[in-house]
Amino acid sequence: MEIKNLFQLNPEVVFLNHGSFGACPKPVMEEYLTWQRKMEFQPVEFLGRNHASLLKTSREKLSEFLQASPDDLVYVSNATTALNIIAWSIDLKPGDEVLGTNLEYGAMDRMWELICLHKGAKYIKVQIDLPIKSEELFVEAFMRQVNGRTKVIFASMITSSTALYLPLYKLCRIANSQGIISVIDGAHVPGQFPVQLDISPFDFFAGNCHKWMFAPKGTAFLYAKKNVQHLIKPLIISWGKEIDTLNNSDFINDMEYLGTRDISGFLTVPLCVSFLDEYLNQNARAQIYDLLIYAKDGMELILKTPKIVDSLERCIQMYAHQLPENVDGKMLKQKLYDDFKIEIPVSNQNGKQFIRISLQIYNIRSEVDFFLNKLEYLVSKCLVNSK
Ligand SMILES: Cc1ncc(COP(=O)(O)O)c(C=O)c1O
Repeated sequence: MEIKNLFQLNPEVVFLNHGSFGACPKPVMEEYLTWQRKMEFQPVEFLGRNHASLLKTSREKLSEFLQASPDDLVYVSNATTALNIIAWSIDLKPGDEVLGTNLEYGAMDRMWELICLHKGAKYIKVQIDLPIKSEELFVEAFMRQVNGRTKVIFASMITSSTALYLPLYKLCRIANSQGIISVIDGAHVPGQFPVQLDISPFDFFAGNCHKWMFAPKGTAFLYAKKNVQHLIKPLIISWGKEIDTLNNSDFINDMEYLGTRDISGFLTVPLCVSFLDEYLNQNARAQIYDLLIYAKDGMELILKTPKIVDSLERCIQMYAHQLPENVDGKMLKQKLYDDFKIEIPVSNQNGKQFIRISLQIYNIRSEVDFFLNKLEYLVSKCLVNSK
């Protein structure tokens, strides 16, 4: 069976944008619907009596996958929610500084800007020049901006527009030693790149299961190390430990029961982990990587703009290439879809436009060839002011 048949994706679309919202395979979707049916079969048993134990079983499986303690993780709807909980919770005082990079996801830049404005703190974007030549240079760029007012270091482990894996470990170890809180945006990490959260230097980590772990939309988690859990204040206040729960953890009790809500997506996570084990084995990952290199070489040849990545070691299942300045990226994206049904994102960052390809097990070489062929055809037609 063709692997694409395991997914519900429209067969008429060349889907090269797994990165934006993921894609849920049919077996996971079935499991999701099964949980929903169970919920509606006996709502009181499901949500009233079994809520905590169902979530605990699922959290334990997720925690094995992330090498984290199950009591240091809570399910949330998306990475945006996790990061908002963290950012609002940290006790920023007037004059405090949050250091991010110039490569962050726009919504998270906006979040820090607004929260810092509200609290009288400052959000500063460290300039990271691309390609990143070494971890040392990356750390140095940050450390030049660190001072006594620095309270938080924030960065994406895999960036959005530029699809780069950032070297965060050394930086966060230094942050730890200086009492600076590290907040990692891992929206694209789980399922794409392995992490061992408990032995990592990260204080807080926000991850999506609905992107690269194949979970239904609205499935994500917030990880907090034990020594910083007391900082977290839930954005939604419900019963907390007053509800009869299985957990000894205030963090879990405060964050897990948020009133009546559908937890079915969270309960599919054990199946998502098995699906990943079965379909994204070493062999499959090597094939995806080879196809990514092939796509990168083709994009480079067609677009002829400077590379933002030295070696593909910094890319895993996504690759982004800068568009020439005279290309109207919006028009290009639209034409790729309207004329050829190729779904691929183009985004802007720091005055540059990037086209980003995502590859997943369901993608095949002929799709990449088709994309490269149409990219070459359209790039000279979609010029700024050519409408
Ligand atoms: C780096 C990064 N952070 C955060 C997010 C937000 O993820 P979500 O919409 O699932 O909250 C995205 C979404 O693509 C992202 O790329």
